[in-house]
Amino acid sequence: MQRLAPALREDNVPLDLISLIKTILAATKEISFRVSQAHLGGLMGSTLDENIQGEIQKKLDVVANELFKDILLESGFVRAISSEEEENSVVGDAKGKFVVSFDPLDGSSNIDINSLIGTIFSIHEARDDVDAADPAQFRQAGHKQVCAGYVLYGPSTMLVMTTGRGTHFYVLDRTHGGYLLVERNVQVPQDTKEFAINMSNQRFWQAPMQQYIQDLVAGDTGPRGKNFNMRWIAAMVGDIHRVLTRGGIFTYPADNKNPEQPYKLRLMYEANPMSFLIEQAGGLAMTSQGRIMDIEPEDIHQRVEVIMGSKNEVETCLSYYQQ
Ligand code: AHG
Ligand code: MN
Ligand code: MN
Ligand code: MN
Repeated sequence: MQRLAPALREDNVPLDLISLIKTILAATKEISFRVSQAHLGGLMGSTLDENIQGEIQKKLDVVANELFKDILLESGFVRAISSEEEENSVVGDAKGKFVVSFDPLDGSSNIDINSLIGTIFSIHEARDDVDAADPAQFRQAGHKQVCAGYVLYGPSTMLVMTTGRGTHFYVLDRTHGGYLLVERNVQVPQDTKEFAINMSNQRFWQAPMQQYIQDLVAGDTGPRGKNFNMRWIAAMVGDIHRVLTRGGIFTYPADNKNPEQPYKLRLMYEANPMSFLIEQAGGLAMTSQGRIMDIEPEDIHQRVEVIMGSKNEVETCLSYYQQ
């Protein structure tokens, strides 16, 4: 099995980007170790603080964020970072060629139940036309990402990453301490019989999503003429990993639970990186209005509707919005 850096060099990934990726992965190895220590490391439970999202932070949200932030800002490769847990972007090295957005710990509600969690990251080239501290550094569409990935702290620690040359799977090999390439050019099956949505929000969805899900649940006696299975991990990293592995549709649609905020997932460090991975694996990543990676971001914490996964199923779902 091939080690990560030679695999990236073979794909002609630029050396400075490889260095940044190695820096990011150093942080994930540390987080992976801390996660495995659970109670032994004193990292279970919540802090008393609320983040900019209005969520009470878990201890691991904070620790993962600090680890990531420190290692990135010290690396010299990064002009600025933005994180789910930081209200504003943070300036790094003036010579840094890249900006990085990240969700240090995705699936926070799973921490205390020893269930799936991960880290998501998205890399753009830094803009030379605006100041390092200017939030406009991050006002770049998803299709301009030069790299995106996540690390899943599951039974094994896995890295799933793309630099625009396909989506590849890697496993952290604890015997030598690095990631090994285990699956190259993963492909999302175009059709599926599996969907992922938080059904408890059903009454808050818009009419097209209500109808689409109703038709899936109706099974082989309904208009779809086949039975569907449902899965919900409550960590986007876990749900997207399943979709990349065996297909499926994952959606967090618009809802009117909170009329001021119709969407849950965040564009810069959840929807965009996952869209890049899904598209590079032959899937579709959309809102009901268009391609996620074509959205011109206005705010680093902006939220967005998400409908992604197996191509034919995403198209079927979107057809309900056109009726
Ligand atoms: P985070 O833990 O980083 O705040 O993200 C949680 C997100 C996402 O991972 C997951 O798909 C979704 O929230 C779960 O939402 P519900 O709690 O509504 O199921
Ligand atoms: Mn998240
Ligand atoms: Mn998070
Ligand atoms: Mn959160």
